[in-house]
Amino acid sequence: MKNVVILGSTGSIGTSAIEVIKEFPHRFRILGLSAKTNLEKLKLQAETFKVPYLAIEKEEVAKALQSSLSYPAEVYVGDRGLAELAQLDEADIVLISVSGIKGLIPAYYALKSGKRVALANKECLVAAGDLLKNLIREHGGDILPVDSEHSALFQLLKCDERKFVKRIILTASGGPFLNWDIKNYDRITPEMALKHPTWQMGPRITIDSATLMNKGLEVIEAQQLFDFPLEAIEVIVHPQSIIHSLVELKDGSMLAHLSQPDMRLAISYALNYPERSTVNVKPLDLTELASLTFHKVDHERFPSITLAYEAARKGHPYPLILEASDEALVEAFLKGIISFREIPYFIEKIINEFKFTTKPEKDPENYLDFHRQVKDYTLNLIERKRA
Ligand SMILES: NC(=O)c1ccc[n+]([C@@H]2O[C@H](COP(=O)([O-])OP(=O)(O)OC[C@H]3O[C@@H](n4cnc5c(N)ncnc54)[C@H](OP(=O)(O)O)[C@@H]3O)[C@@H](O)[C@H]2O)c1
Repeated sequence: MKNVVILGSTGSIGTSAIEVIKEFPHRFRILGLSAKTNLEKLKLQAETFKVPYLAIEKEEVAKALQSSLSYPAEVYVGDRGLAELAQLDEADIVLISVSGIKGLIPAYYALKSGKRVALANKECLVAAGDLLKNLIREHGGDILPVDSEHSALFQLLKCDERKFVKRIILTASGGPFLNWDIKNYDRITPEMALKHPTWQMGPRITIDSATLMNKGLEVIEAQQLFDFPLEAIEVIVHPQSIIHSLVELKDGSMLAHLSQPDMRLAISYALNYPERSTVNVKPLDLTELASLTFHKVDHERFPSITLAYEAARKGHPYPLILEASDEALVEAFLKGIISFREIPYFIEKIINEFKFTTKPEKDPENYLDFHRQVKDYTLNLIERKRA
C-alpha cells in the first residue's frame, strides 16, 4: 500500500487523481489533501477517505474545517501547510497539482525529504528547475511528470538509447483560436478563451493554452526534465490531442505516444510507476479517428512560444520572469483589465525591461520574493499604460 499526498486536490488534476485512486483501493491510501479556498469540496474528499492530514490557505477556514469533520485530522494552514504535507514521514508519493508558483513550496520540501514527486505543476520547474534538480541529486528523490506531453516523452525516451535521439517534439492542440484571423483577436473575451476544444482544465492553464504560452512553458519544462538543448525541442500543432509527444531518432524513425486526451492516464502512470494499471478510460480506437493532422506553429499569431524560447535561451532567471509576468497577466485578462493580445505584448516588454541585481538561488523564499517583484512590476506597467 502506497501513501499518497495530493496537493491541489480540489482542482481539475486533483479531482482526476482521486478518481484514479478510487479504482485502486488496495494499492493507494490518501494520506493528505489540500485546497486554497474550496472548503466544501475538500471536506467531502476528506470525509470520503478519512484523510488524516489536510491543508487550506486561511486560518479561520482551517478551524471551521477541523471542527466540522466527523473524525480526528490534523489541519494545517497556508504555505506552511503545503510544506508540512509534502514532507510527511509516511508519504510515499506527493502529487503536486496546485496551480501557479505556490507549487514550488511543496515541490521543494518533498524533494528535500527525498520523496517521489508526481508533478503536474509545471510553473515550479520553469521558475526554479535548477533548485529542484539539485535537491534530487542531494537527497535521492525523483520527479515523475504528470503533464501529458512530458509523461509521453518520459515513456518514449525509455524505448531507445539517448545517443540515438535527434530531437523531441511536443504537440499543441492550438487552443480555441487556432484558426482565427489575427484581425479578430480584439474580440476575444475571457469566456471564449476559457472554452478549450480538447481538455478540461483550470483557468490559468486554459488561458495559457489559448495563447500557447502553456506550450512555451512546457518547452522549458521539457528542457529541465530531460536535459535536451533547446534546439532539439520542437513544438508542432496537432488539434486532435491524440499524439502527445514524439521522439525523432537519428536514423529518421519517429516514435509517437498516442492516447485519449484524458489526464487520468498520465496520473495513473505516475502513481503506478514502474507498474502499469488499467484505468477506466475509453480505449483509443484508431478506426474511429477521422484524421490526425499537424501544422507548424504560427509565431505571428502565437508570439508566446517565441517569448518562451527567448527566456529559456537567456537562462535563469528569465524563465521565472516569463512565468511570473504571465501569471499576473492571465489574472488581469480574466478580470477584464487587459485584452488577449496584451498578454504577449506585456510579457515581451517585461522580459526586456525588468531590472534585477541578484538572481534568486538556494531558498524557495528567494524565488517567491522575486516572483512577487515581477508580478508587482507587471501590474504597475499595466496601470501606467492605462493611465
Ligand atoms: N488540468 C490539466 O489537464 C493539466 C494538465 C497538465 C498540467 N496541469 C498543471 O497542473 C496544475 C493544476 O492545474 P489544474 O488545471 O488542476 O488547476 P485548477 O483546476 O485551477 O486547480 C488548482 C488547485 O490548486 C489549488 N490552489 C490554487 N492556488 C493555490 C494557492 N495559492 N495555494 C494553495 N492551493 C492553491 C486550488 O484550490 P481551490 O480549488 O481551493 O482554489 C486547486 O485545488 C497546474 O500547474 C497546471 O499547469 C494541468
